[in-house]
Parts: sequence; C-alpha cells; structure tokens
Amino acid sequence: MANSFAYPTIKERLPVILAKIADTLYRTRDKIKSQYQEDVSEELKSIIGSCSKLRNEVQTNKVAVPLQDSRNDTQVWNRYLQAATEREGSPPSWFKSAWLYMECYMYRRIQESVEKCNIMKEFDVFGEQKEKSFTDSVYPTEIVMMHLLETQQKIKENAELVPEAFKLFLKVCLWGNKCDLSISGGEDNAQKSSPLEQLGKLEPNILINDSNVVLNHLCSRNCKRIDIVLDNAGFELISDLCFAEFLLSAGLCSTIYLHAKAFPWFVSDVTKKDFDWTLQMLGQINHIAVSNFAQVWKERLNNSSWILQVDDFWTLPYDYSQMETYAPDLYQSLQKSDMIFFKGDLNYRKLLGDLRWPFTTSFETCLRGFYPAPLCVLRTSKSDVLVGLPEGRDEEVKAQDEDWLVNGNWGVINACLKTK
Ligand code: F6P
Ligand code: MG
Repeated sequence: MANSFAYPTIKERLPVILAKIADTLYRTRDKIKSQYQEDVSEELKSIIGSCSKLRNEVQTNKVAVPLQDSRNDTQVWNRYLQAATEREGSPPSWFKSAWLYMECYMYRRIQESVEKCNIMKEFDVFGEQKEKSFTDSVYPTEIVMMHLLETQQKIKENAELVPEAFKLFLKVCLWGNKCDLSISGGEDNAQKSSPLEQLGKLEPNILINDSNVVLNHLCSRNCKRIDIVLDNAGFELISDLCFAEFLLSAGLCSTIYLHAKAFPWFVSDVTKKDFDWTLQMLGQINHIAVSNFAQVWKERLNNSSWILQVDDFWTLPYDYSQMETYAPDLYQSLQKSDMIFFKGDLNYRKLLGDLRWPFTTSFETCLRGFYPAPLCVLRTSKSDVLVGLPEGRDEEVKAQDEDWLVNGNWGVINACLKTK
C-alpha cells in the first residue's frame, strides 16, 4: 500500500473528508435545524459523533465492523465483510485491506449514521459542498449550454457537422470529471473558467482517444439506447447532460438512461436528489440557453427520452466483473444498451477491479468478462490504475508530470466494443 495512492488516501484524504463533515455540520447546525419541523439536535449530534468516531477508526487502523442499520443493502455488506474476514484470516482494516473497498465502506458507514436517524433519514452530509460546486460553475454552465444551443441549430442545417460536435461534447464530458470533490478533500474544485477554451490546451493530455471508434459504432447501427453511468454532481453533471442532449438531438439514439447513486457517495457523486435539485436550479437561472434546456430536460424526463435510474449495485463493494452475479437485473438491463458511457475514476477502478495491471495491458483484458454491451470510459486519472498505453508512454508522461496518475490532469476516452 505504501507506494500507491492508497496510503496518502487512507492516511490523509479520508480523515480530512470525515473531519470536514463534522466541521460543516457543526458550523451550519442552525441552518440545518431550521429545515426540519421537529428538533433534530440529538440526531445531528449523533451524525457528527459517528463521523468523528469513524475518523479515529481510520487513523488508528481499526477493523471494519459490521453495519447496524436497516437499509436493504446492510446484509449484503455484512456478508461481504464476513467473506473478506474468512479470506484474509482477520477482519478487513484500513491500512491492510483493499483500498477500493475500504473507501467504499467509509461512505457506507457515513450513510449508516444517517440511516439510524428518524427525522434526518434523507439528509445528505455532502449536500452543502455539492450545492456550492454547482453555484460556482454557473459561468461555464452558461457557456457550454449556449454552445449546445448553437450547435443544435447548426447540425439541423448541416449534418456533416455532427462528428466534430460529437467529439467536442465528448471531451467536455471527459474533462468535466476533473471537478470531483473527493480528490480535493471536499475543498472547492469547481470548473470556473470556460470549458471550451481549455479543450485545445488539454488535447495532448488525452492519453487514449477512442472517440472515432465510438462515433463509428453509433453511426453504424440504428442505436436506440445509450446509458451514462454518472459520476459527480456540479459541472460534471452539466457536461453529462449536455452530452446526453447532444446525442439525442444529433439523432444518435432515442433514449438515454442515466444512472445515479442511491445515497451520498465519494463526496460529490450524483444522487436522485442532486439530479432533481440541479434541474430545478437550472430553471432559475436567467440565461437564454440555460432556461431553454431546463425546460427541454424536464420534458425529456416526462416523455422518457431520459430515464434516471438508481441501483444499489453502484454503492456495493463489488467490481463490475461481479455485476452479473450480484446485480443480474441491472446487468440484463445494460445488455439492452447500444453504448454505455462510464464516467470517472471510481467507475474506471471498478471496471478494472482496481488491480495493478501493467500499463500496456489492453482495456478489454482488464474488463475480465464484463462485456454487457459496447462501452466507453471517460475518466481523468486520480488513482494508480491506467491501462491501454503503448510501451514506454507511461515513462514519457511521468517525466513530464510526476503526479500524472493522480492529479486529474490526464484523461482517457477508452472504448471496448466486445459483447458476450
Ligand atoms: O479516492 C479514490 C478515488 O477513486 C480517487 O482516485 C478520486 O479522487 C475519487 O475517488 C473519485 O473520483 P471520481 O469522482 O472521478 O470517481
Ligand atoms: Mg465521483
């Protein structure tokens, strides 16, 4: 663990995230209390206490204790912990066990503190951070949406413009993934400048770019359904929705399934509540393109050209090669897709099983049988795993940027068209 990003994550990043929850809830306690009819002082105190206790457990390398709430995934988690205990010969602990799953466990434990409440059961401990990230990104949101509106007009008149526009919105969507709040320890990491202006500068930082492969695939058949497995709220969600809107208006598919998390996850991941809140906020922004799309997107949800889905599998401690076993319904549903876009670092890690593959291993190999439908990952790198590179490319990039694997400044658009 010592020579990977796991060590600084467990030692520093996770405790910072937990401390920030306690600080924020304490600092904003009056505002939080005012949102409820009943007195929530005790429940708020209990959430703060649980997060502080959890921070101490992480820092002192305690073992992962079974969950004690009554959420419908509790037994699945506890069985997972039991199996890990049997496999490893002792219960999983923070500095010893697989980083990916300990990190997932941390977010599930945070949720446990909320699940145990009666009044605050729906509370989102990261809500304030996510809302701020959205408000900080209003300017780039307006820029991208204006560009989308103009593009829609242009492609109506000239369909030959579709490929270039497709690649542009795909890239906006990729770099939108820079803005997650877990890598920044919950600190401000919003997109503030024009996302279009930075595209040129970032072009050399796209280590793998399969956008032609994806586009050819979409154009070569009569695609109906595209899925986007969402990652972060804030500007990244805006970039995803713009991409989804583009795909529909360019006639590249007729339905988009958007997949969100069942509870607050990795600080900024999108929940249904974030999704609804975002659309509602867009409706309040006085800007020609933004108010237009706020309206259009409401309509898309009503007429089911957009379908928002939530599944517990996305917040379970399993990688995607295990989906068929642990979430057969989700797997079968994804098999109906013409293309699944996976957003972000965590999805990438779960696609690859978070294993330390040589950099030159093919993406297809690393998926280890997870071929429900053609898929494409859009990910800025914020952890140690990265595959599909030509021999020697990792050394070249490292010479240029020592922290290339974890600083979010390098991205991949990597597709695998294989299906089972
Ligand atoms: O901490 C683990 C991690 O996967 C980081 O690598 C990254 O900071 C974060 O979680 C999630 O990133 P993303 O929002 O892109 O999935
Ligand atoms: Mg995320």
